[in-house]
Amino acid sequence: MDMVINGVTRGMRGEVRVPPDKSISHRAAILGALAEGVTTARPFLRSADCLSTLACLRSLGVELGLEGEALRVEGRGPGGWREPQGPLDAGNSATTMRLLAGALAAMPFRCEIRGDSSLSRRPMARIVEPLRDMGAEVEALGEGSRPPLVIRGGRLRGIDYEMPVDSAQLKSALLMAGLQAEGETRVRGGKASRDHTERMLALMEADISFQEDAVVVRRSSLRGREVAVPGDISSASFLLAAAALLPGSRLVLREVGLNPTRAGFLSVLNSMGALVMESSYRESANEPRGDLEVGSAVLSGVEVEGWRIPAMIDEVPLLAVLGCRAKGETVVRGAGELRVKESDRIAAMCAELARMGGRLEELEDGFVAYGPTPLKGARVDSHGDHRIAMSLAVAALCAEGETVISGWECVDISFPGFAELLRSIL
Ligand code: S3P
Repeated sequence: MDMVINGVTRGMRGEVRVPPDKSISHRAAILGALAEGVTTARPFLRSADCLSTLACLRSLGVELGLEGEALRVEGRGPGGWREPQGPLDAGNSATTMRLLAGALAAMPFRCEIRGDSSLSRRPMARIVEPLRDMGAEVEALGEGSRPPLVIRGGRLRGIDYEMPVDSAQLKSALLMAGLQAEGETRVRGGKASRDHTERMLALMEADISFQEDAVVVRRSSLRGREVAVPGDISSASFLLAAAALLPGSRLVLREVGLNPTRAGFLSVLNSMGALVMESSYRESANEPRGDLEVGSAVLSGVEVEGWRIPAMIDEVPLLAVLGCRAKGETVVRGAGELRVKESDRIAAMCAELARMGGRLEELEDGFVAYGPTPLKGARVDSHGDHRIAMSLAVAALCAEGETVISGWECVDISFPGFAELLRSIL
């Protein structure tokens, strides 16, 4: 499906909520299914990725249902999971595939998990190897250790593991396996990546502890809980960036998740010159949230190095757009993981923004954007990747003329209603 967006000269104004957090929604469903008792996630994100997780859990015999804006999971512990009738379909969602693989590594049955063409290109060796070390039989059937995955779970033993990549999905998979393993599972080196799993495990009374550079879990049963889900800061970021770029904007976003392992983009926006104000800060279900207010600003280029990347991993494509409109050079390095996301996000953003007149240089692990460059409307492609589609929509709003974004339907992966919400504040 094509989306046509015209450049605008007016600002973005209003006060809105963004959809619930995707990462927390996935985790509430999966951990709720491993717990004893009822877990509710409110509001639950009804996006394609989270619905993939729910469909997989149902095929595993987990009883759950959507009630109004909430998800209700009738947790019966890991013993309540059943061998599925056929392969599980994780759709486009690597979070579904990798987190479920961790949970399934301890289950006494065989299970296959598949994905769509994009997910089938994503690397799985990172989870296959440590889950095998823990004692599970795991195989990635695709060439080069890619999906589908076949898991024959069994008795697991804890491991002491140093993460080779800063990935929350890998860390979470190992923690889910560790919950069901003998002894202690120690995961080192993943501290910069999002810590929603650790926070929710603590909320559900897992035996979890934190050391300087490690998180440690022991076999424990979880208790079902009420999980209040804040707005997704990654979804909020598209609106914040557009408001910063369009002159005359003043935008307020209510109840956005402000977990520090996710909020790196806010400090980058601030260092570029857009003042993002936080208010009404509070915690619920172990996760911080608050309101954000931003106005238009004259932006300057920024350098973002490796250690700052994990806390804004999904916002890096958007930074390429800001970099085109900011004065000076915007340099991103140490973001090689972007090449193995839903698309090769470095190549995709450099190619598509170039069609709009952007001047970018592609680096192996990042890019340099030279600005300020006026953007002009063009025909561009989402590469089937929701974050590329929405980043290009932000570029289109501050471009001159009409932009046509093909493959727009992928926006439903994380942000159903994005176009309507944009219209309401323009
Ligand atoms: C996610 C972790 C990140 C992120 C993805 C969601 C999660 O991936 O890019 O959109 O919910 O754990 P990695 O763990 O591969 O960095």
